[in-house]
Amino acid sequence: MAILDVFSSSGSKKRLNGREDAAEADILNTLKKEHDAVKELLGKLVKSEKATERTSLVKQIKAALVPHERAEEKVVYDAIIALKDKDAKIDGNEGYFEHKHGDMALKTLEAIKPASSPEFSAGAKVLKELLEHHIQEEENNVWRDVRKHFDDEMRMDMNLKFEAAKKKVRIP
Ligand SMILES: [Fe+2]
Ligand SMILES: [Fe+2]
Repeated sequence: MAILDVFSSSGSKKRLNGREDAAEADILNTLKKEHDAVKELLGKLVKSEKATERTSLVKQIKAALVPHERAEEKVVYDAIIALKDKDAKIDGNEGYFEHKHGDMALKTLEAIKPASSPEFSAGAKVLKELLEHHIQEEENNVWRDVRKHFDDEMRMDMNLKFEAAKKKVRIP
């Protein structure tokens, strides 16, 4: 069976075309990976003391976070806001609200000079707390709505749309 799998058309497509992997992934798995990556960067940011390292980490967080947020709004939040489920509508809107706060905190942090200052340390701590709270609520509430209303196939389709939407996002 393994040999047949290797030579089957879907098997070779999978190796030749990266898009095939995205087609088979559940959007929630993709979101989880990206959440974990941002949390790791935030952990590094609060531990870091050097200005150059802090500035570089903020850039990395922004590059990972902004496309994730915009694509998530379009593909996940808008989909649950469109449902008849009132709780899902609130969860989607709460997501939008928290993204705005996250973006504002990130912008404020970027403007603090020097990045080695105690003011920056405080801002980094707040950004981490804000985003960790947001991620936790999202993984509990928004994902519960997604699991309830969208089956495996729909979530795979959402993953393709999420990956495509991310590519169109311009980082400010
Ligand atoms: Fe997210
Ligand atoms: Fe989010």
